[in-house]
Amino acid sequence: MPGKPGFYGKRRSTGAMASKGTVFVCCECGELSYRWLGRCPGCGAYGSMEERREEPRRGGGERRGAGDPRPIPLHAPVGGEARMTSGIGELDRVLGGGAVAGSLVLVGGEPGIGKSTLLLQAGAGWASRGTRTLLVSGEESAAQVGSRAARLGISHPDLLLLCEGELEVLERAARELAPGVMVVDSLQTVWVPGLDSPPGGVGQMRESVFRLQRLAKELEAAVFLVGHVTKDGVVAGPRLVEHMVDCVLYFEGDRSDGLRILRSVKNRFGSTSEVGIFEMTDGGLREVEDPSLRFVGRRKKPVPGTASGVVLEGRRPLVVEVQALVAPSCLPSPKRISSGVDPRRLAVNIAVLERRAGLRLSDRDIYVGLTGGLRISEPCLDLAMCMAVASSHLDRPVPPGSAMLGEVSLTGEVHPVSRMADRIREAYRLGYGKLFLSSSFLEKADEAGLAGGMELVGVGDIEEALRAAGLIHPSSRS
Ligand code: TYD
Ligand code: MG
Repeated sequence: MPGKPGFYGKRRSTGAMASKGTVFVCCECGELSYRWLGRCPGCGAYGSMEERREEPRRGGGERRGAGDPRPIPLHAPVGGEARMTSGIGELDRVLGGGAVAGSLVLVGGEPGIGKSTLLLQAGAGWASRGTRTLLVSGEESAAQVGSRAARLGISHPDLLLLCEGELEVLERAARELAPGVMVVDSLQTVWVPGLDSPPGGVGQMRESVFRLQRLAKELEAAVFLVGHVTKDGVVAGPRLVEHMVDCVLYFEGDRSDGLRILRSVKNRFGSTSEVGIFEMTDGGLREVEDPSLRFVGRRKKPVPGTASGVVLEGRRPLVVEVQALVAPSCLPSPKRISSGVDPRRLAVNIAVLERRAGLRLSDRDIYVGLTGGLRISEPCLDLAMCMAVASSHLDRPVPPGSAMLGEVSLTGEVHPVSRMADRIREAYRLGYGKLFLSSSFLEKADEAGLAGGMELVGVGDIEEALRAAGLIHPSSRS
């Protein structure tokens, strides 16, 4: 058998073999084993096998009877699936055009990010559009949910609340009310009596999701499951839940900033490249209609250390501003601190500036951040990042009203990035007058007439880019 028992993770059993009636279940993927393993053979996670006192269900045979949920075909069923829109455009779009009757949607996110608020506001939207919505809260009391609803001015006779965690009670209430949408907040608080597994454990979760899936099909309701996410960004508990649901959404953002992004990582009824952008305000979540405007610092006078780039969030191009501060360091190994950009890309870009453009940065502390609380790991920001760092180091601003678009390779060459046309159009739409981009794309951009009224400046490598932006003199190297 694969794995190295006893070497990785905490060993949870004293014997290598399980005693009679005991199995080991991986809390990440649900893989079963009769003996303890340090590494799960199913998903490769270390130390994830938990002991469970229960007869294993071989192949799940006894569960698969009448009423078993059928896999949903990916092509649109004849007649199209019934969609329920909440009126919150950003949410409806990420769902693929509204919630689908009979589907199961997992909404993951860190505690406090706004999952309950989003689904409460969506609930009000569904109710006001004639879809009865049942909110089930196992975490908060009726008074807590009620006060949030009152604060947001939410009240509708078709929006109902049940504060309960026991699955059988939820099922009974749902069958009685026949809601079009049911929100279970959160999955970790649902429990099925009579199971050995503790609430939030693998057994409980598997059983709850399975039964909620059946309920969704039976009532033709869209069931939303809220799932808390651990620090590493995975839904706490089994990844198995992700396989069982039709749609997985993640609600993300920086708690210190109001920006929230709803991403779809799996969707049987829509594209996973859609994102919804919101802002958390005192009056709840507000949709951000023109996100680019939010991420670009609008200043009258150009400031050294800033450069704009165009990133893609899902399908949407967004103009963002990279800010850099380069300061003398008194440390033997100077600081490189990044927020919102990938620290490895920052390190590479600094090395490229040193070696390919002759900037002396090895005795400088360098701080780089993105405005607006976005997190971007795409290489498309390389050129903007290099320009911002060089601009701060040399204390000269980049040309006013300019944006940068390009990946910088280890050789210092500037390459085009994906979906150039959409990004160029977005920069033009926001009123940028000048765009630095890879010279290899310049001809194509001209042929396609992408520039609009913008001046496109083609640059072959990073040194040429710094020169074209007026940061270094043609004959001088800093
Ligand atoms: P919540 O929806 O409870 O988060 P989750 O369900 O993901 O744990 O949101 C909690 C945070 O949102 C809390 O820190 C307060 C903030 N908030 C606002 O800023 N404005 C509001 O109108 C509401 C309802 C919450
Ligand atoms: Mg909550």
